[in-house]
Amino acid sequence: MVKLQHELEDALAQAREALASAANEAGVEECRIRFLGRKGVIPFLMRQMGALSPDERPLMGKTANGVKQGIQAAIDDALARLAGDVSDTSEALDMSLPGRRRTLGHKHPISQVMDDAVAIFRRLGFVVADGPDLETEYYNFDALNTPDDHPSRDIQDTFYLPDGRLLRTQTSPVQIRVMENQEPPVRIICPGRCYRRDTPDATHSMNFHQIEGLYVDKNVSLADLKGVLTVFAHELLGPDVELRFRPHFFPFTEPSIEYDFSCIMCKGKGCSVCKNSGWLEISGAGMVDPAVFAAVGYDPEVWTGFAFGMGVERIAMIRHAISDIRLLYENDVRFLAQF
Ligand code: PHE
Repeated sequence: MVKLQHELEDALAQAREALASAANEAGVEECRIRFLGRKGVIPFLMRQMGALSPDERPLMGKTANGVKQGIQAAIDDALARLAGDVSDTSEALDMSLPGRRRTLGHKHPISQVMDDAVAIFRRLGFVVADGPDLETEYYNFDALNTPDDHPSRDIQDTFYLPDGRLLRTQTSPVQIRVMENQEPPVRIICPGRCYRRDTPDATHSMNFHQIEGLYVDKNVSLADLKGVLTVFAHELLGPDVELRFRPHFFPFTEPSIEYDFSCIMCKGKGCSVCKNSGWLEISGAGMVDPAVFAAVGYDPEVWTGFAFGMGVERIAMIRHAISDIRLLYENDVRFLAQF
């Protein structure tokens, strides 16, 4: 019995030695077969336990199991060592390697303009409102006093769904949704996506962003609109920006204007960003048409207001002298990382 015990312990020591110097996985496998395989050393020794007396057997069984476990652990260690998974990494670590730079992401230029605009209008007392991208004809056109035969309703200009809904062509329907749910005074802005069936080119995209503004109170005048837009332009783009208002037509405002910012690139002298005109068209605005107030149940004799829209892409393009709107949608990190 003592002899068998020694033989088992010897086998463990031999196995450990062999495994510690195994040069590859095949060497480890060879050791496993030699010691633990069916015809290996350990099974051979264990078969000899049959000759032991019944009270010796349990003790020897325990020794044999311990030896088996020891060999298995040595096999696992050897495999881990060969796989490079060594706990002592001092040799594997190359202190001369340069560190890996972690690049920080940042907001997309479109989101930057929207966030900056929201911050500026908040300071002027506006709150952010929201509305759905999928709209009904009622909100996008009817309630905004848009005649049935207005060209913007045309299938050429608007994406319609089979169920008659549409992808909003402007953020103006949010004006209606807000006024339906709120008594005046109202002071909201709504940044959001809009969709039009435009052929993409340097200044057009089928999907773009607007920021809508609506101010309703007593005695609101065009001068208030001009003041708010001027403060906004100066806050966003600097005090040198000039504003220009041109008469225009929108079904939901009367009078209506289009407004331009002077080109911040050339300071109005003319350059490629402003196509040599010195001015950049931002979007439309005007005094809320009484017919719109009537549609939402505000008394047009009591309430007055102005509304404006602004093209977010256009402002981002002016801000960064970007010449092609499509660059804003390609998500090329080399482009976006510049801003
Ligand atoms: N919704 C108009 C457009 O998309 C812009 C606008 C907004 C005009 C609000 C007047 C008032 O062109």
